[in-house]
This record gives sequence, structure tokens and C-alpha cells, in this order.
Amino acid sequence: MSMGYVFVKQSRPLIGEVSLSGAKNAALVIMASLLLTRGKSILRNIPALTDVYEMILILKSAGAIVEYDAQENILNVDTTHIDPQNLNQEAIRKFRASILILGPILAQYKEAKIAMPGGCAIGARPVDYHIKNFQKLGAEVWQDQDCLYAKAPKMNAQRLVLDYPSVGATENLLMALTLVDGESWIVNAALEPEVLDLITVLQKMGACIEVCPPAMIKITGVSKLNPVDHSIISDRLEAGSLLIASSITKGDIFIPNANAYEMELFLMKLEEMGHTITVGKNGEGVRLKATKTPRAVSFKTGPYPGFPTDLQALMMAAQTIAQGNCNIVETVFENRFMHIPEMNKMGAKISATGHYAQLEGVQGLVGTDVIATDLRAACALVLLGLAADGETRVQNGVHHWKRGYETLDEKLRSLGAFVELR
Ligand code: UD1
Repeated sequence: MSMGYVFVKQSRPLIGEVSLSGAKNAALVIMASLLLTRGKSILRNIPALTDVYEMILILKSAGAIVEYDAQENILNVDTTHIDPQNLNQEAIRKFRASILILGPILAQYKEAKIAMPGGCAIGARPVDYHIKNFQKLGAEVWQDQDCLYAKAPKMNAQRLVLDYPSVGATENLLMALTLVDGESWIVNAALEPEVLDLITVLQKMGACIEVCPPAMIKITGVSKLNPVDHSIISDRLEAGSLLIASSITKGDIFIPNANAYEMELFLMKLEEMGHTITVGKNGEGVRLKATKTPRAVSFKTGPYPGFPTDLQALMMAAQTIAQGNCNIVETVFENRFMHIPEMNKMGAKISATGHYAQLEGVQGLVGTDVIATDLRAACALVLLGLAADGETRVQNGVHHWKRGYETLDEKLRSLGAFVELR
């Protein structure tokens, strides 16, 4: 792991136009879904991120021929000759989304051995919903210290009910069910935009999938899926990060390829702070012109279309220098407040008990050395550094940054920020 830090200096208001990269969380699962097919697929708008490179290593170890053009963001994957016997377990262990190869491999190749995944340290992040439901489908699943093993000569169509609308469990089960004979349902499914992008891809492959109210997915199994050509949706979390940058620096940023309809609650909260949000036709294109006197607003994270947990640390950063007090409730992950002590080092006034945080807005912040604990926390601290007096070093920041942001540092610089990956 590189121990690099992100160096930030107090910057002028960020002003200008920037475009988003492809969505990491859609890219990773869609790359995994190619294991359901045999043949040559093309994925476009794939961001150059460490997690994407790890997923490429995993696909290659499964026997896929992969060519990635990081300049053009085009990924060519040939899955004609897959043999998942010798998967790169080291790459699998490095990030949590690698668990998403389980469903495709189990459905197509009947057995899988997968190292227990890592990822951001934001809670226990078990995979029990995945395991329990593969067992309901008839798979034998067992674990030792390092690895998860699964065997399923045949899976049977079922109505699966999730304990919680888990993004990963929904995706993993959905991918497997596309090849399970008969009609299956996922009840209490996650319907994040990234899940919907996966559904679009699976449908292009020939899968029979229907999204039904209130939060159910109906899947009718087919015997075979075909390769695809697909362009990944743009990254709503990068959009959120840029809009927060505008809020924090009292700037004016326009993102032409942001989709407002994928982040309506988030945008509403920014408006409640006093910012002016302008949205283009059909939700395409978002501009945030910041107020000079933002008000603190309370918010609570939840599954989509609720407030995204991945924007919690960022939205909290924006509140630190707003006027008044607010409450922040994290309901998705049990341990995602590790950025609070770091924000307080910079002069923020936040206290937390369990899932609840209370915040009192302060007049100004001071730059200092802080530690990034996860990807979004890293970004939140960098953005705070733009408003803080002096210099800020976000230790461990580069490692986290490169997992999730393709060129956000360049984009911030183009808007006038002083940010360097060192
Ligand atoms: C995905 C996203 C991540 C985002 C999260 C919630 C990817 C690659 N990552 O992560 O950026 O923060 O959705 O929107 O898409 N849980 C269990 N057992 C399980 C599975 C989940 O208890 O088997 C719990 C988790 O610990 C967590 C909650 O369910 O508290 C939601 O997790 P989940 O939606 O599964 O998150 P990920 O798919 O890991």
C-alpha cells in the first residue's frame, strides 16, 4: 500500500465546468457480470482506478483476455475460454466488490473458491446475506479462515427475501439467477442506479429481468447470455464530491453529465443549505452556485433513493462551516464516522454516539495533518482542506483516492484548487 498523502492548500472559490468519469460501483459489478457470458464484450467509460485494475487481474486469472485502454476508458474482454480454477486470490482479497464474481462463477461454472474480500474499513461488512441466499438456491457454501467455497451443480428458482436492501447481495444473486431455470424474485432488493445499470447490461446480454414495485426484481432464467457493448453510467458519487467542493469553497461549478434524478435528496439538502441548484432538461446537467452564508441541515443516510452513505462524510464536511447546528444519522454502515476526529482536528465541532452525530457550525477551519480512513473520508478531508486556513496533509489519502477517483485531483485543479497527490 502506498503511504502517499494528499497535500491541500486553502484555495479560492472553485469555478468552472467539469465532466464526470464512469461510475466505479457500476463498472466493477458489470465487469464481473461478463463471467456469465462467452465471447467478446466491450465496456466503455470504465474509469482507471486501482479497484478496476484489480478486477482486471481477477478476470485474467479466470482465463479472460482483457485489454484496457485507460486513455479512452475502453475495456475489451474476451470470455471465450474461462476456467475459474486458479483465480488470483490476492487480488480478490484486496477489495470488497470482488465478492461479486461469486454469483456469475457459481451460475456458469458450478463451483467457486473466493478469498474473503477486503475494502474500506467502514464496519464489519459481512457477506451473510449473500451466503444465506445462495444456500436457499441450493448451493453448498462453506468457509475456512481465508476463503469462501461454494458448490452448486444445480440451483433452483426461488423467492428470495433480503434482510436489508444490500447492493452487493442484490447484484450477486441477480447475476446468478439470470441463468437459473424458472421464475425467481428478489424481494427488498437494492435499486441503486448502479444496480439498474447492471440490469440494463444483463438485459442486453439476453437476460429476462423486470423491476417491480415496491422493491422487487423478477428474473426468469435463460440458458445462455451473450457478450455486450455497453457504456457505464457516470459517477453520481464523483458528482456529489464536486458539488460539495463548490459548497465548501463558496464556488460555482457546473457538471454537464451529472444526472440530477439520481441524487434528488442530496440536491434538496444542498438547496436547504441555501445553495442555488440549477438542473438541465430531463435532469441532465447540474450546477451549484454556492451561497456565502450556508445554513447547517440535518440528514440521515439510507438505501436509494435515500441519502447515499457514500456522500455522508462529504456532506458532513460541508456542514462543518455552515451556520447553526445539525444532526447526522448514519443508518447503512455501523462504523462510518471515523472521519469525525479528523475533522475535529481541523477545528470542526462534531460529537458522535453510535450512529448519531451532532454538529455545531464553526466560522473557520485550520489546516493540519489528518488521516484518511476510507475512500469518501479521504475526499471529504481534502475538500475541507480547501477551506481551511493554511496547509492540510491527508495521510494515507493517495491510496484511498486512487481506489475511487480517476482524475478528480486534476479536475479540482482545473477549477482553481490547490491539491496535489504526493
Ligand atoms: C455497496 C457500494 C458501497 C456503498 C454501499 C451502500 C459497491 C462496490 N460498493 O457496497 O460504495 O457504500 O453499497 O450503498 O457497489 N450487509 C450485511 N450482510 C451482507 C451484506 C451487507 O450485513 O451480506 C450490511 C453491510 O454491513 C451494510 C449494509 O448491509 O451495513 C449495506 O451494505 P451493502 O449494500 O451490501 O454494501 P456493499 O454492496 O458492500
